Amino acid sequence: MKLQLILTLVFLIVSASVAADYVRPLPRKALQFPWDPKSSQPQQVHISLAGDKHIRVTWITDDNSSPSIVEYGTLPGRYDNLAKGESTSYSYLFYSSGKIHHTVIGPLEDSTVYFYRCGGQGLEFQLKTPPAQLPITFAVAGDLGQTGWTKSTLDHIGQCNYDVHLLPGDLSYADYIQHRWDTFGKLVQPLASTRPWMVTQGNHEKENIPLLKDGFESYNARWKMPFEESGSNSNLYYSFEVAGVHIIMLGSYTDYDKYSEQYRWLKTDLSKVDRKKTPWLIVLFHVPWYNSNKAHQGEGDDMMAAMEPLLYAASVDLVLAGHVHAYERSKRVNNGRSDPCGAVHITIGDGGNREGLASKYINPQPEWSVFREASFGHGELKMVNSTHAFWSWHRNDDDEPVKSDDIWINSLVSSGCVDKKGHELSNLLMTP
Ligand SMILES: [Fe+2]
Repeated sequence: MKLQLILTLVFLIVSASVAADYVRPLPRKALQFPWDPKSSQPQQVHISLAGDKHIRVTWITDDNSSPSIVEYGTLPGRYDNLAKGESTSYSYLFYSSGKIHHTVIGPLEDSTVYFYRCGGQGLEFQLKTPPAQLPITFAVAGDLGQTGWTKSTLDHIGQCNYDVHLLPGDLSYADYIQHRWDTFGKLVQPLASTRPWMVTQGNHEKENIPLLKDGFESYNARWKMPFEESGSNSNLYYSFEVAGVHIIMLGSYTDYDKYSEQYRWLKTDLSKVDRKKTPWLIVLFHVPWYNSNKAHQGEGDDMMAAMEPLLYAASVDLVLAGHVHAYERSKRVNNGRSDPCGAVHITIGDGGNREGLASKYINPQPEWSVFREASFGHGELKMVNSTHAFWSWHRNDDDEPVKSDDIWINSLVSSGCVDKKGHELSNLLMTP
């Protein structure tokens, strides 16, 4: 009898492990940050691209008299250059931010390590500028937050060799508690001070209070992106070019209909893309358009209806979104179906925030959906040359080099789609 019981148990354990070869990890707690006394030292240092050969250095000081200067050079401790910037600050109910400094440095050499110091004092940081030409590698992670899983995602990203970080929205999960913006700034500093972080906003950045606060005040003050450099009048949508890639950041929570400023700006920006100079065209925004997870189902439909025709006509190669706390990769798609001249859509909102994973999916899996899984992780996108890019997704549960999903992507330039759709784009762009 005993033997029978043991055999039954063994059978049950073995069959369970065969049925589910991957055991999804449990959520991890929010990180605890020790109380930090006020200090005159620069803190929360991060960098972002700010036009050709220029980088914006952003940091915060508790000391209001601290100057917005960055000293920099190519040798440690020797700063041959000095740039002066601007500063801002904001109040939010009972909270007052420190002095937020934004200083653009450059022109800088490509693929070069620079040593720099903020505000004329404190620690020396170092950054590496991106290459002038392909290849270039992007790290991609959205919906980060500040939990044990966030830390794991950042550790994994820190181990990969990348040039620029792309973040499709939901950064700190401060959610009105402003000091969480400061702890997030400290958490990401080791990575964000060394490689440009290019971000767009999610719902957790809104923090609006009716009649009291407009949305995105803290986000805009702290994470200034190169919107002026790209002809946009809002920090909530902008574009930039790096090493043969044109990247457009859109705002899922900013007006996007045909008569909106964002739509008009997008049309203008797309009309300027020169595929000889930038053969790759990538778009990021927060709320996915192609999502077969039950979470946030249909939330991107209106934006998709308004803007997908523009992206399709312009032959966008790849769309990266967040919001859904899981990973999903589509085939090339347009108008809800696979289409060889459409974009590959990837949802990568699995950076590790405190809300946990979104594990329920619509079944059967839609025809356009290739790979979907609710696990924490990050993506790496290597644009190898003008025709080929390699995308890989890395679960936090695995060692960094292990890829859980990967795909070679051929550019739409090389597939002839760009030439084929040229007239379609011109027609759309000429429509008022
Ligand atoms: Fe979100």
